[in-house]
Amino acid sequence: MSIAAAVLMIAGCSSPKTDAEKFADDLLGRMTLREKLGQMSQFRPRSGVVTGPEGFSYDLETMIKAGEVGSILSLREQEYFEIYQRLAVDSSRLGIPILFAHDIIHGCKVIFPINLGSSCTWDVESVKQSARVAAVEASAMGLAWTFSPMCDISADPRWGRVSEGSGEDQYLAAKLSVAMVEGYQGDDLSDSTTILACVKHFAAYGAPEAGRDYNTVDMSERMFRDRYLPVYQAAIDAGAATVMSSFNDFDGIPASGNKWLLKTVLRDELGFDGFVVSDYDAVHEMVNHGVAADGADAARLALEAYLDMEMTSGDYINHGEQLVQDGVIPEKLIDELCRNILIVKYELGLFEDPFRYGGAERFARETYKPESIALARKIARESMVLLKNEGSVLPLKEGGKVAMIGPFISDARAMNGTWDGFSEAKRTVTIEQGMRARFPEGTLTFTRGCDAYSHIDGGVEAAVRAARAADVAVLTLGLPGNHSGETSSMTSVELPQAQKELLAAVKATGKPVVVLLVTGRPMALESVDELMDALLVVWHPGTAGGDALADLLSGDYSPSGHLTMSFPRCDGQIPIRYNYKSTGRPLTKEMDYTQSHKAKKNYQTCYLFTPNSPLYPFGYGLSYTQFSFTDLQVLDPEVAMGEDVRVKVRVTNVGEVPGTTVAQLYIRDKVASTTRPVRELKGFERVSLEPGASAEVLFTITAADMAFCREDMKFAQEPGEFGLWVGESCEAELEGKFIVKE
Ligand code: BGC
Repeated sequence: MSIAAAVLMIAGCSSPKTDAEKFADDLLGRMTLREKLGQMSQFRPRSGVVTGPEGFSYDLETMIKAGEVGSILSLREQEYFEIYQRLAVDSSRLGIPILFAHDIIHGCKVIFPINLGSSCTWDVESVKQSARVAAVEASAMGLAWTFSPMCDISADPRWGRVSEGSGEDQYLAAKLSVAMVEGYQGDDLSDSTTILACVKHFAAYGAPEAGRDYNTVDMSERMFRDRYLPVYQAAIDAGAATVMSSFNDFDGIPASGNKWLLKTVLRDELGFDGFVVSDYDAVHEMVNHGVAADGADAARLALEAYLDMEMTSGDYINHGEQLVQDGVIPEKLIDELCRNILIVKYELGLFEDPFRYGGAERFARETYKPESIALARKIARESMVLLKNEGSVLPLKEGGKVAMIGPFISDARAMNGTWDGFSEAKRTVTIEQGMRARFPEGTLTFTRGCDAYSHIDGGVEAAVRAARAADVAVLTLGLPGNHSGETSSMTSVELPQAQKELLAAVKATGKPVVVLLVTGRPMALESVDELMDALLVVWHPGTAGGDALADLLSGDYSPSGHLTMSFPRCDGQIPIRYNYKSTGRPLTKEMDYTQSHKAKKNYQTCYLFTPNSPLYPFGYGLSYTQFSFTDLQVLDPEVAMGEDVRVKVRVTNVGEVPGTTVAQLYIRDKVASTTRPVRELKGFERVSLEPGASAEVLFTITAADMAFCREDMKFAQEPGEFGLWVGESCEAELEGKFIVKE
């Protein structure tokens, strides 16, 4: 600590004001209450993306001129960024610039794979670069703020929004969320190519009951602190300037009016000092939740919870003045919240130059750059996960005849998935286009076979004919691009019946069957597993998806993606995750006294007959080569609390082609004051090797990695013995251990 800071602390003073704080205070002193509430309000133009109720009717231009619009979301027409900004700067009394926001979730013009897909790369640096590209393109359009990263982890593939997150594991999701924050915000917010990140949806939005969107979230504080909070926390520690409060209630209090979440945890514990925006209409929706009597009451709750900016419902601007006049809300609180927003606007450099974002020339120069498309192709290639490859059907044999079948082969929307930003269909490489560009003419045929959910006349027959005439049938099955994401929760994640029938008919031809699974979520595939010789999960792979797929099917590259969400066997196993608790009756050989029960309960749907394991586990993914893991060394087998444990392993490519695997390290706290997961990911590294080559991988498990929410509710370490495993999935078998002493 500097001497000046120490003197200030002794004197009980806070640190000197920054330029941004001085500026905000001066401006606040000149603002009317209504203007302050205006800064705390975000609105959508008529043409914007609607993801909730229409709300009250307003004329955006009149409100901008009156200084009542702090931020605009979902503006799609590019010329309006400048038109609206000019209106705010030239025609409102104080000329405070507008903050333009949009959901740039997995790319802006160049679309990267959906986030769940990108997480399967386990490639932190590439994910950071993809966020950087998105920020450069978005800022070139006029945007200064994206509602990303989504830090909600989830173990429930019924929930449509798993496509927007980084999977079921908090350790990996935290690393990727940090990468996104760094990619969007860079080191300097005032750089005109960086934009604000927004950590969402605070909090625990990924755990709605039954996987139904917007549904109740109720969990213990311990579970919240152990599993959910660390991801938001990591992104906030990385400097994310904004946070979005979620739609759901949490322990009976809607997040947008939850002072414990937004003040005690977020600001006081995590030290967040940016501003919080509500989710779409989430303030007003507290009336539906049944905790607010009307819009004014909802505004009161949100203000008291320290929610700085309200999205779309207008409750702040419509009721804030009255709340202050009636003495319900002190104007000092409004000042505090509005100040948070003005400071961020200052840090962005908006007051210095409100037109620093956008511009036609910059837009033309910065969007769809060849290197951005190349990055999208690389990430798409790395995101695809090979789950099965019997008889080495893949890669496709040179010169062989391939029947490409299925409803998504020529579908650009299926490539991009949910939140396709400002993408242009004509720039998206479909599967058909990618394959045609890579494979010799005359070797491929394309047949639709069926629609996503229904038969088409003669479709199955045509597909069967095509398969018979080919050496191999490649079926693209799964879900349409807009069947994941918000409001796309499902009661079943099985393959639609029409597709199952198409698959069975093609399999009956006796030709080898490769399934390319286009999907925004894990699917339950046990009932069709034996109909597939090979299975490659393609996700919604983005702008360069078709090319990336051809890279893999041709064998130009070997698949390297590894799952970040478990693929269940059937719907009934959901929610499912690898890091479950042992329970008092774990499924081990020693505990298997269930044979007599099995005889009595001879119905196949009984859990006794369904293994607890998923069909394909977390971390799993094949390649065209094989890797061996040997020479495990725990370099620090006994450590004191607070010390690191280093673990070394040798990875060798024992196959015949170059390839990349993801070396993963899991630990288990054997005896603790609370029940701990059977395995927890605590390290990973992508390793690329030529055939016969090997490399040493060094993992470092820190004290923070061993910390958890103890019985005394402290998030800290405990002494004791830990098991550890290293390998290519959560089922890794190479085993070691270490001890943490008191
Ligand atoms: C979604 C958010 C999104 C917001 C603005 C909401 O419906 O839940 O994730 O950022 O709309 O588009």
